[in-house]
Amino acid sequence: MSSFVIQGGARLEGEHTVQGAKNSALPILAAAVAARGECVLHGCPDLSDVRATLTILESLGCAVRRQGGALVVDSSCLCRCEIPERLMREMRSSIVFLGPLLSAMGCANLSAPGGCDIGERPIDLHLETMRALGVRVIEENGRLRCDARAGLRGARCSLHFPSVGATENLMIAASTAKGVTVLTNAAREPEIADLAAFLNACGAKIYGAGEGALVVEGVERLHGAEHTVIPDRITAVTFLTAAALTGGEILLRGARPSHMDAMLSVLEQSGCRLCRPGGDTLYLRMQGRPRRLPTIRTMPYPGFPTDAQALFMVLAALAEGASIITETIFENRFRHVAQLRRMGAFIRVEGRVAVVEGRRFLQGARVEACDLRAGAALVLAGLAAEGETRVRKIEHVDRGCEHFEGDLALLGANIVREEDDLGQEDEEA
Ligand code: EPZ
Repeated sequence: MSSFVIQGGARLEGEHTVQGAKNSALPILAAAVAARGECVLHGCPDLSDVRATLTILESLGCAVRRQGGALVVDSSCLCRCEIPERLMREMRSSIVFLGPLLSAMGCANLSAPGGCDIGERPIDLHLETMRALGVRVIEENGRLRCDARAGLRGARCSLHFPSVGATENLMIAASTAKGVTVLTNAAREPEIADLAAFLNACGAKIYGAGEGALVVEGVERLHGAEHTVIPDRITAVTFLTAAALTGGEILLRGARPSHMDAMLSVLEQSGCRLCRPGGDTLYLRMQGRPRRLPTIRTMPYPGFPTDAQALFMVLAALAEGASIITETIFENRFRHVAQLRRMGAFIRVEGRVAVVEGRRFLQGARVEACDLRAGAALVLAGLAAEGETRVRKIEHVDRGCEHFEGDLALLGANIVREEDDLGQEDEEA
């Protein structure tokens, strides 16, 4: 295992180019299975979750190669519809191979996905929509055997919660179903529209992606396509917040500000000066201590994203006054609170509500990443804290933040990656 060792206090300033969106690249790579032929994908970030997805693609018989900065996936030799448990457990988004395999092979033999331990993360909505399309689902001994050899048929579905992954699986499977599929209360995240754009480039007929109600007219088959994934709105705001926490300034390039409105509004209300010169750039400058944050309540897009909750809790921990953060999406997404308390943060949690009393300083400490976004938040806390912070288990951070310590160091951060001593006790961080 490895850790980040951070000497706090450096003011971040400079430019940063935003990586491609992890939560767009992962479903699009899976969807390439349904596009019989070669897909060329630009902007896929170099992350452990992306590498895990490529391993699954190859295990299914797809050919994968890098071509310059692009990933090329050729599914013409797809020959398997079974994904071994050890690969399924690598990450949550492995479940989004369900729709592509049913579309391409008429079968899928999977197990429960892995992913960040931020809640129970059931897959009932995925299975409900697949059954609506005519899929026979047998759940036994933790495995899922799904059969659609009789063919997928269009259906009317509604999600009781706008699940991102369930919307993605349905869009992909419905693309080659016989007839029309209508999905209401669909997820509206920008990554949904990006996946629809990729599928439509492959010949699908998907309408209304990102607007809450989806219509998919099934087509005979999908062909290969070329696509560039959208910028990652969460890592973009991670770097903005890093500059804000250190009283610095940053120019983001390759961003999509229109995907970040809810988060940018909170940054401005906390005292950050934000300029949107237009196009894909964003400039942030922060002087002095953040003001208390407006009440944050995580919501499905376009509300405040749950993936930014931990980042903004760090900002609140250093703000003047008390801030209230409510996590409505995942039931176990406050695990960074105990770690921030080790750094001197004053946070009270009642169920899904955290009350954060801002402090003038945080102290460096030994802390532990418990999921991707919490790990990134702890790194940011270390940048702003006095003294040294060691963040352990940073493999969580490597799942979603590309070249994280290198890019932060280019902005002036004092951060290095260290391998933990093998004999080191796995002491409570
Ligand atoms: C996606 O996860 C993202 N992951 C998550 O980002 C993100 O936090 C989440 O959407 C919400 O925006 C990827 O795209 C790979 P959901 P997903 O299905 O699809 C419940 C990150 O850090 N639910 O929208 O798993 C579920 O329990 C990750 O990048 C069901 O009840 O999210 C949760 O409470 C973390 N039944 C809520 O819906 C289901 O069948 C949201 O889940 C599916 C979901």
